[in-house]
Amino acid sequence: AGRALAAEPVSGAAAVFSGYPFTLGVASGDPSADGFVLWTRLAPKPMEGGGMKEESVWVDWQVAEDEGMSRIVASGREAAHADWAHSVHVEVANLKPDRWYWYQFKAGGEASPKARTRTLASPDQAADQTSTLRMAFASCQHWEAGHYTAYEHMLRENPDVVIHLGDYIYEGRGREGQLRRHVGDEPMDLVSYRNRHAQYKTDPALQAMHQAAPWIVTWDDHEVENNYAGPIPEEKAHSTPEAFLRRRAAAYQAYYEHMPLRAACVPKGPDMKLYRTVRHGRLVDFHVLDTRQYRTDQPYGGERAFPGPEVMNPDGTLLGKTQREWLYSQMKTSPATWNVLAQQVMMARVDRAAGPDVACAMDQWPAYEVERRAVLRAFQELKVSNPVVITGDIHTHWANDLLTDFDNLESRTVASELVCSSISSKGDGEAKPKFQDSMLRENPFVKYFSDRRGYVSCTIGPKIWRTDFRTVDYVSRPGAPLVTPVSYILESGRAGLQNA
Ligand SMILES: [Fe+2]
Repeated sequence: AGRALAAEPVSGAAAVFSGYPFTLGVASGDPSADGFVLWTRLAPKPMEGGGMKEESVWVDWQVAEDEGMSRIVASGREAAHADWAHSVHVEVANLKPDRWYWYQFKAGGEASPKARTRTLASPDQAADQTSTLRMAFASCQHWEAGHYTAYEHMLRENPDVVIHLGDYIYEGRGREGQLRRHVGDEPMDLVSYRNRHAQYKTDPALQAMHQAAPWIVTWDDHEVENNYAGPIPEEKAHSTPEAFLRRRAAAYQAYYEHMPLRAACVPKGPDMKLYRTVRHGRLVDFHVLDTRQYRTDQPYGGERAFPGPEVMNPDGTLLGKTQREWLYSQMKTSPATWNVLAQQVMMARVDRAAGPDVACAMDQWPAYEVERRAVLRAFQELKVSNPVVITGDIHTHWANDLLTDFDNLESRTVASELVCSSISSKGDGEAKPKFQDSMLRENPFVKYFSDRRGYVSCTIGPKIWRTDFRTVDYVSRPGAPLVTPVSYILESGRAGLQNA
């Protein structure tokens, strides 16, 4: 992207690969009204650093209006460089709004799969004139924990856009006795993070879903390390801040190299700006957040705890000041009917302890209580139109109403939160965990909870937002049928979940 080339990239017959170069498939992302990003990476040997020579290679791309790719409307070539793992990120512009397109890459006589993506509606399109958007969201796809059956079902639904809320990879070393095994040790450097991303990208169900719709992605912790907070690693004793930031730089670069992200997201050392807004007409704004890179350390060692004085630390933050002010300004000026916060950790203050004690998860918003309350207050004070929080991270489905004051269960509902379970992490799960009844009884703003794997489908219209929770009963073997245990409606102008 915009850098001087040491030597002219090779193309055509001069680019001879040690095997088929498109083993990781193709992807598209961050759709706008006039374009999107197209992604691929040349990697004939995906788990061995990619298997490419040092030289740069020309990659040709084409975008067509039809599935047969006879009406080409955009085309070009992009150089794939070794220092970006021979990945390419093409920002296509000047296309028509709100329609499907097809695309393909070619390099050295080899062709990628043909894939489908789309533009979104023009930002000046009135909400009631904007097409209904079908959005599916997912998170947490631990390779070793299960099959990606959920993506096979998502594919059959034909969503317009997919949002991934993080834990796209997991960093643990390969272990014995798992369903599928991570290749290699825990990644610490660029080459090992690349190999881990490449291994995940070889999954056929994941590739197929990437090839069927544009994705909007953000990360959680496992793209770097479990429960890291800004510059602070999980195990402080085992790493210096300098060493951890070197590791974070490698992890962020590998993430960028494997995701359909725009040039605005190109990492700079240990920093990478991932927060952004994606807009579909005046119907919906997706404010995509990053609650890992700028956060302060988890209070009380990050474990479940009584919410004592540390959670009221006024300097405690998940967003950091710059991102928080950006979010407020985006929400305040948004022309959209629905304002979605697409983010990682649960915002509802769920009491996890049975009985009169209160215990909260210290990796989530209730551990950063001052900022959590400020965001909920901002929904009211800035008169944010229909805020909806979508969340990943915790490998369970939840449907929550968000109250102004969780100590007063009679207080007003200001927004709703939809939490997707994992694609595979934590394995099959239980039909009904023991704590479920008492948890639902003590937290009446929680409308639904499930320990099964799955994803969430949303149908977003100008008056009604419909949510279907999707589950599969097992991921330990392939082929689980799709279940839709519950569906909810959100009505524009009326806060709170309603039964569908
Ligand atoms: Fe996870």
